[in-house]
Amino acid sequence: MCAMNTIDAPTNAPRPDAHTRLCAVIGNPVAHSLSPAMHNAAFRETGLNYVYLAFKVTHLEGCMAGLRALDGFRGLSVTIPHKMDILQYLDEVTPLARSVGCVNTVVNAEGRLLGTITDGTGTLRAFEHAGVSLEGKTILFAGTGGAARAVAFALADSRLPREILVLGRTPSRVARLVEDLRHGSRVRVHGGDLGSTDPDRARACDVIINATPMGMFRHSEGESSVPRDWLHASQVVFDMVYRPRLTKLLQDAEEAGCRIIPGLEMLLFQAVLQFELWTGQKAPEAVMRNTLQRALQSDL
Ligand SMILES: NC(=O)c1ccc[n+]([C@@H]2O[C@H](COP(=O)([O-])OP(=O)(O)OC[C@H]3O[C@@H](n4cnc5c(N)ncnc54)[C@H](OP(=O)(O)O)[C@@H]3O)[C@@H](O)[C@H]2O)c1
Repeated sequence: MCAMNTIDAPTNAPRPDAHTRLCAVIGNPVAHSLSPAMHNAAFRETGLNYVYLAFKVTHLEGCMAGLRALDGFRGLSVTIPHKMDILQYLDEVTPLARSVGCVNTVVNAEGRLLGTITDGTGTLRAFEHAGVSLEGKTILFAGTGGAARAVAFALADSRLPREILVLGRTPSRVARLVEDLRHGSRVRVHGGDLGSTDPDRARACDVIINATPMGMFRHSEGESSVPRDWLHASQVVFDMVYRPRLTKLLQDAEEAGCRIIPGLEMLLFQAVLQFELWTGQKAPEAVMRNTLQRALQSDL
């Protein structure tokens, strides 16, 4: 593994020393990760003697054995391709992460490595932050991949929504997510085909979530997974895509008078929850948000 970034230590933050706690993101690739900027800004702001690095990891077993041996190691963000494989190297995994089938956060609790997932719970926090209650609501997902799974399980676990409608383009993936969500959940779950859903069925949903890459910068910018005629002013629309900030879907939603939540909010709040798990302190949310916005702007 190799360190991908440098640490700036402004005068008001402790300089790395023998007591510094280490957090890091592991994945492959990690060179474009926004997490080091966000977490280091948060550590500086709170004056905590922590650093956050990015490690490109190809040999996960060796990486985990090495980290276990480091006394100052406090936690990890885990990204592609290790989110599933890492489960076997952990001492404990939260029931939510087990249901989702992957881990994005590891906490070293005095030598015991605990795995959890903050993507879904972070998204719930983003809705809360936006003042949107999910209680009794019908939630539509466009997309059935890892991110949809993480958020849908957190929603089902919260027992807040009345109903979840999962729409995808691959029937077997829709069926699998619907079946997994129904298992042990009190929330009603239905599935359907993204391309041939009756607009009235979609319009009856209170919240629409895009969990596909449609609309993403340099991928399909200007396109949307959600037809314009599904949208109306009483809905809340959340797009997981965070580049550009205002995707085609969010532009359509604004024009239709919907409340919108950009993908940046998910990225921010999953990190806020990680910070709180590693440090036991409230995260400096405003600083993390500004850092993220600046990093995204300079990356475009
Ligand atoms: N804001 C955040 O913090 C955050 C966090 C995680 C992910 N994301 C974003 O969320 C999106 C999904 O991520 P993921 O990890 O779930 O990816 P994934 O596991 O690859 O799943 C992608 C999903 O999108 C569907 N899809 C892809 N292209 C499509 C198209 N042209 N039309 C209709 N459906 C299409 C796929 O369908 P098939 O299964 O049929 O291929 C699949 O259901 C990505 O854009 C990612 O950047 C954002």
